[in-house]
Amino acid sequence: MKGQSMMIYLNGVFMPVGEAKISVLDRGFVFGDGVYEVIPVYSRKAFRIEEHLRRLQHSLDGVRLANPHGNAEWAELVGQLIERNAGEDQSLYLHITRGVARRDHAFPKPPVAPTVFMMSNPLITPSAELLRSGIACITAPDNRWLRCDLKSIALLPNVLLRQMAIDAGCAETVLIRSDPVAGGEFMTEGAASNIFAVKNGTLLAPPKDNFVLPGITYDVVLELAAANGIPHEVRRVMKDEVFAADELLLTSSTKEVLAITQLDGKPVGDGKPGAMFARLYALYQGFKRDVMRG
Ligand code: PDD
Repeated sequence: MKGQSMMIYLNGVFMPVGEAKISVLDRGFVFGDGVYEVIPVYSRKAFRIEEHLRRLQHSLDGVRLANPHGNAEWAELVGQLIERNAGEDQSLYLHITRGVARRDHAFPKPPVAPTVFMMSNPLITPSAELLRSGIACITAPDNRWLRCDLKSIALLPNVLLRQMAIDAGCAETVLIRSDPVAGGEFMTEGAASNIFAVKNGTLLAPPKDNFVLPGITYDVVLELAAANGIPHEVRRVMKDEVFAADELLLTSSTKEVLAITQLDGKPVGDGKPGAMFARLYALYQGFKRDVMRG
């Protein structure tokens, strides 16, 4: 799809992306003062929309922004966005900022209307080759803030951390947090993904606390593990456990479930996508098919 033919939504109006205009005083532009969501669309149906809208509410509450729409309105807008864009599978982006105001760190007083923006991009899931080979990752210290549970549009740390992986010829950066209160060095997540470890047949999932984004795909994977008798534990995964893992798995709305087969230049397990990956990937694809059919 050509960029110009992409239809976007901005503050109540659907329009071609080339016609959209935002003020330079928008607090999203000036401060990164806003939150966002990414929702995958399969066969023209938004996947897990209620869960995404619940997380959006959590992010809005966390930055003290009023939700501009009720869930029924959001669902209607999302439906229209899908309708106006080509492609069976899409990746929807929802973005809300604190609006346009004279530059001042404090919230505008009285509050101004938020800026509400949505776009649709083609959903490009990992290729068959990537699924067969898995991906190479690096590790890096998690130097982000302490509210990683909020899906903030201020993504500069994530951008820099992801670029470190790209510069090293890798796909993603696995983040290791060193926190004196929480204790020790432990894995949080990827720069734009959640990460699971596998040891002796047990799936290990970092808890959904303030150090990680509560991933929608993460939840689906844990639900599938529970429903299919796959041993799993939600607990901190320490740095040494990451390097000693039999498998590492990455999840996100756009990457779905991927095997990490190399970490910091060394093979993970035997260096090939493992049994847990194969099982969860198949279950995830089956779940998607069932949801889209029903
Ligand atoms: N990112 N953690 C971080 C920091 C993320 O940015 C994402 C997703 C995830 C996975 O969440 P989910 O399963 O709900 O996609 C975890 C999206 C895809 C993005 O920023 O493009």
